[in-house]
Amino acid sequence: MTKFSCCFGKATTPTPTGGVNPRANNHGSNVDVSIELLDAENMRLYKYRDLQAATANFRPESKIGQGGFGSVYKGVLRDGSEVAIKVLSAESRQGLREFVNEITVISDIHHENLVKLHGYCVEKDHRILVYGYLKNGSLDQTLLGSGYCSISFTWEVRRKICIGVAKGLTYLHEEVQPHIIHRDIKASNILLDEDYTPKISDFGLAKIFPAHLTHVSTRIAGTQGYLAPEYAIRGQLTRKADIYSFGVLLLEIVSGRPNQNRRLPVEEQYLLERVWHLYREGELERLVDTSMEDVDIDEACRYLKIGLLCTQSLPKIRPSMSAVMKMLNNEMELNEKDLTDPGLLSELVTYKTMKNNTSGTSSSGSRKPDESQSYGNTTTSYANMTFTTITER
Ligand SMILES: Nc1ncnc2c1ncn2[C@@H]1O[C@H](COP(=O)(O)OP(=O)(O)OP(=O)(O)O)[C@@H](O)[C@H]1O
Ligand SMILES: [Mg+2]
Repeated sequence: MTKFSCCFGKATTPTPTGGVNPRANNHGSNVDVSIELLDAENMRLYKYRDLQAATANFRPESKIGQGGFGSVYKGVLRDGSEVAIKVLSAESRQGLREFVNEITVISDIHHENLVKLHGYCVEKDHRILVYGYLKNGSLDQTLLGSGYCSISFTWEVRRKICIGVAKGLTYLHEEVQPHIIHRDIKASNILLDEDYTPKISDFGLAKIFPAHLTHVSTRIAGTQGYLAPEYAIRGQLTRKADIYSFGVLLLEIVSGRPNQNRRLPVEEQYLLERVWHLYREGELERLVDTSMEDVDIDEACRYLKIGLLCTQSLPKIRPSMSAVMKMLNNEMELNEKDLTDPGLLSELVTYKTMKNNTSGTSSSGSRKPDESQSYGNTTTSYANMTFTTITER
């Protein structure tokens, strides 16, 4: 990988889509910002005023989402193409680092199940990413959202989404060199195009995974509810942490429920705990979303079991993404006999209790399912606090 330093001046050389070629004229005297980019020459450099024009000066009606690092707007460029414009908040230094990371990681990567980054804008303190606009939004707003949703999430559509996301993740984990760990697989990062092809977005948290290392120890990032316990507790990042998050997502897609819902009775609030409990009771089909008329219950339950395989407490026994792909396509048998306890939020509490209490009670992952019901509001809020602190988001 070549490394070069870019100084962005007043961009000139316009392209038909309102962007400029960053290599064409980036050494002007009026330098706004100096930023180091890796291999980002495939990207368009957009002018701020063109993005203003595309969004009617970022008017509130153009806003389609709000994330931890800023707002997302729908824009129409001069050539008529629709784009999603992610504006990072100026004060977010972490956002700037991730901005550069996102451009670096995504610029050379093209796959039908990954969001396409068209380009970016760095002028004064503006940091903006320009993506292809995905008409059918993100799974958190549609499938898992509380508002009206015009999409009919049939079983056929959900199967397509599960397999598409698995394909995209297999590509990142096993096909791209060096491999990439996404680190933030979750419903809001799965976007749907007009024919419901899923696209994984947000590579800002991705890390290039050096082939010679077994794991990367790093500041913990990610989102509560999708974080693998070993990653949350020790900060050890392997591809298996993504696979855990994918497992949680799979459960959400099949059940049509978010991984946490505080409005439910306490024993039903955590989807993974609920799925594991009903699995042990032999009542897994109760979790399958009943709004699907075309559902194949056996297949839907198989998908839930694959979700449980992916979220097992021990990372090394979680399947690889290519094995998950084969299981989803029914090309590989799912070995239920080997299924072990999931890594649960409550284990974090046990871990913390052990650290604080040297008398040391057992932290075994083999807690029986009904014991999970005994942790109420105190431990729940504690677990959330732990996550909030360590994720800083
Ligand atoms: N390319 C896109 N096309 C259509 N909608 C998009 C696109 N990118 C983002 N969005 C919308 O904007 C919302 C916010 O996205 P963003 O990535 O900023 O935050 P997030 O994923 O919800 O949260 P976080 O910052 O914690 O990752 C998404 O949930 C999605 O609905
Ligand atoms: Mg996102």
